[in-house]
Amino acid sequence: MTSKDIREKYISFFVGKRHKEIAPTKLVPENDSSTLFISSGMQPLIPYLLGEEHPAGKRLVNCQLCFRAEDIEEVGDNRHTTFFEMLGNWSLGDYFKEDQLEWCWEFLTKKLKLPKEKLYVSVFKGSSSVPKDIKSYEIWKSLGIPEDHVYFYGSDKNWWSRSGTPDKMPVGEIGGPDSEIFYEFTQVDHDSEYGEKCHPNCPCGRFLEIGNSVFIQFQKKDNGSLKELSQKNVDFGGGLERLTAAVNNTSDIFETELYKPIVEEICEKLGTSYEKNKQYIQIIADHIKASVFLIKEGVMPSNKLQGYILRRLLRRVVTKAFLIDKQKSDSKFFRSLIKSVTDIYPKHFEGNAVGTEEVVSLEIRKFRKTLERGLKQLDKSIKDNEDLGLAVFNLFQSYGYPLELTIELLKERGIKFTDLDMVQFEKGKKSHVELSRTASSGMFKGGLADHSEIVTKYHTATHLLHQSLRDVLGSSVFQKGSNITLERLRFDFSFERKMTDEEIKQVEDLVNEKIKEDLTVTKEVMDKEKALQSGALGFFTEKYGDKVTVYSIADPSTSSGSSFSREICGGPHVERTGVIGKIKITKEESVSSGIRRIRAKIVLR
Ligand code: ALA
Repeated sequence: MTSKDIREKYISFFVGKRHKEIAPTKLVPENDSSTLFISSGMQPLIPYLLGEEHPAGKRLVNCQLCFRAEDIEEVGDNRHTTFFEMLGNWSLGDYFKEDQLEWCWEFLTKKLKLPKEKLYVSVFKGSSSVPKDIKSYEIWKSLGIPEDHVYFYGSDKNWWSRSGTPDKMPVGEIGGPDSEIFYEFTQVDHDSEYGEKCHPNCPCGRFLEIGNSVFIQFQKKDNGSLKELSQKNVDFGGGLERLTAAVNNTSDIFETELYKPIVEEICEKLGTSYEKNKQYIQIIADHIKASVFLIKEGVMPSNKLQGYILRRLLRRVVTKAFLIDKQKSDSKFFRSLIKSVTDIYPKHFEGNAVGTEEVVSLEIRKFRKTLERGLKQLDKSIKDNEDLGLAVFNLFQSYGYPLELTIELLKERGIKFTDLDMVQFEKGKKSHVELSRTASSGMFKGGLADHSEIVTKYHTATHLLHQSLRDVLGSSVFQKGSNITLERLRFDFSFERKMTDEEIKQVEDLVNEKIKEDLTVTKEVMDKEKALQSGALGFFTEKYGDKVTVYSIADPSTSSGSSFSREICGGPHVERTGVIGKIKITKEESVSSGIRRIRAKIVLR
């Protein structure tokens, strides 16, 4: 059965259950600044899941192209991709668990003819605030699923919201417990590296999640609790690539018809085999496909937002290809790669590939130049006897050089990379990956859009602004939200009225005074309770664990406890405020009742 058959069968099955097929939206959301990409079919439906009436009714179905930037680093196994097609059906306060699970089962076993004995399900085991999902368990049992094919998991596996587990959901976010379906590839042996016993959520590759029924019935409130929504919704999502793998009993999605032509093209043109360079090939295949779709939607490589993610994807494609064969990774190779993608999706790419080729070639040319610049810098670091590990990390951070590539190039220069260099590099990379995860996993998460030096400056400036507002306007002011880009900071805070020009100036002057004083920023890890007792601001306390990081901004010559600002925060921050330069408040406006918003820019660096 082909992916096209599966897509069509799914839509017609749910249309048969009185669902309306709705048009998918673009990959880049047009009216949702909280996120860079559509990463799930439910995303454009949020207003309707919250109760607004949908013009097509209460039962909807579609197939939505999705892109998950937060999964970039996950790609490189049998099942993870950044780009995928999601088959989705929704009940907007209409049917609930009973119909959903029964129809899901009917579709998989009758329409796709998946053998029942290879299917497993998981159910929410409950948490302190949401009870165990006994109802779903009973429904699965009544459908004939044996006891040993039903697994209970907690919020880390059986809860779905755009931002993950309940503690990570920002105020206003919706989500709920879910019930997933897994397919077992009996031909794949369990890998004991992942634990003694295999189970549906084991990452060894024997099980593949092929569908997720989310019961969206909660919304995160200001005080951190979960409120029941006025309507109980169903949000089902099934990855078409994974369903295609299950239906064909192919344990690696990269070996299905949705990837195979790309994989074959890579192997043929670079003169390698899939077995020999599996991980690199999976990364190239996923990222080139995602890039081609993003470019089709008008995203251009850049240093900002969607463009930055596209640039990252393309640079990873180029470096992985270089690692397989630098000589053969020429422009002809990249052109043929694009064609292998567009050939898989003729309906999406009628006549569009030409523009795509140009964008990709230009970006690759630019990257080659960057690589050359990076190499020059590396040669200089070597000549100056700088720490090799750090020099290599800087190349990774500034130019996107992966370690493997740099090692190859060092080799060309007759330089040996020691274990110590490796440790230095890994140390730097670990913190970098953490930051980049926060940044790319959705802007609504940490409020940070990039981890560069300028963003770090804005982050520390935000702390200074927060405290200055409290000093000038009173301690009823507290943070309600923060969002930082390369160009500005945006800070939402509680305050009842418009600030006067005089107050704005006072706040701005105070921030700049504290920058000028070149205060020291220090970081301490401590118990949450102790941090709050010590006067650290931490208004979103429910999202923190027992241990928290407290950043203090203080004059190092004064006694401890007299810091200007003290906040619970994940960082990163500059070491001294002096490096920030000077800020200017560019706007003060209302967001909603009792909440004001300030935008500020760094005007002097
Ligand atoms: N929205 C759910 C998911 O993405 C179905 O898994």
